[in-house]
Amino acid sequence: MHITVVPASPKTGLATIRALLADPRQPTIRGYYRNLSKVPAELAAQHPRFEAVRGDVEDLETLDFAGSDAVFNITPPLYQEGRDIVAHARVVSENVKTAVRKAGVRKVVLLSSVGAQYGSGTGEILSNHAAEVALADAAPEVAFVRCTYFMENWATALETLPAGFFFSTLTPLDFPLPMVAIKDIGLTCADELLTPPSSSPSPIIYELRGPREYTTVDVQQAIAQATGKEIEVRPVEKDGLDAFYAAVFPPSVAKLFAEMNRSFLEGGILALDPEPTKGETKYGKTELGEVIRGLVGVDELD
Ligand SMILES: NC(=O)c1ccc[n+]([C@@H]2O[C@H](COP(=O)([O-])OP(=O)(O)OC[C@H]3O[C@@H](n4cnc5c(N)ncnc54)[C@H](OP(=O)(O)O)[C@@H]3O)[C@@H](O)[C@H]2O)c1
Repeated sequence: MHITVVPASPKTGLATIRALLADPRQPTIRGYYRNLSKVPAELAAQHPRFEAVRGDVEDLETLDFAGSDAVFNITPPLYQEGRDIVAHARVVSENVKTAVRKAGVRKVVLLSSVGAQYGSGTGEILSNHAAEVALADAAPEVAFVRCTYFMENWATALETLPAGFFFSTLTPLDFPLPMVAIKDIGLTCADELLTPPSSSPSPIIYELRGPREYTTVDVQQAIAQATGKEIEVRPVEKDGLDAFYAAVFPPSVAKLFAEMNRSFLEGGILALDPEPTKGETKYGKTELGEVIRGLVGVDELD
């Protein structure tokens, strides 16, 4: 089988390529990079079944999916002030759809998000909603893998670890949230890509979670275990989210991240989930502790 990953540079793209390369079905893989100097060393070392090509989902002319049995699409995040993330997601998804149809590809797998079914109130997840709307009929079979919160998002919290604390926007501190490891996203998406189209109605939609839900207290304990040091948590309460994100992102991006964050806290649309995903829920096996151990550069803290 021949699988195309577009774009290949997001963390989830790399995880899926790794899982495809390790799979006994031995597919060949083509990864699209808008900048070929970003191809990771482990892939640039010319794996015989992997090919990196230059292409940008913003530029239809650079996309050629001829010969692909399946296409894996990720909607790239946009962090630029004043740019409409929904309009951008629509444009790049339409480009992918056009290229898929032109090449007669029979299956598309979209990395999506929990809450992508909602057209308002979810902040940055609205880009995933726009992608789902655009790609729903792109190919005879389309699969939306709606991922929960990435465990690797906690990487940003690690920046303050040397000072002995981390910020958490997941409050109250004992509020549980489904989370999934990027490694498990890669394994699930690779398996979906290698499963030939079936007679099931398209699009196929499911949620992808980790083995359990986790709270900020669980994160605090995982960091303490990984580092062998006690770590203070500084909660960012709901009404402080706008100011918190405004300190790290341009204003329009900060607004979207604050809205997304509120949407999964108590009373938010993702927590209430009035129109839950109807398909089955899949569960990754990787525990938060394993991801935190991987993220924490223990040596750097010493
Ligand atoms: N984080 C979560 O908890 C979560 C949960 C559910 C779903 N999601 C979704 O997962 C997806 C991936 O998010 P992420 O934060 O994990 O991404 P990420 O790893 O930060 O990926 C960003 C990458 O996208 C590439 N990129 C950006 N614009 C591009 C373009 N026009 N053409 C080609 N490549 C482009 C960039 O590559 P270069 O700069 O190297 O070129 C960059 O490395 C998003 O759709 C997000 O909504 C995230």
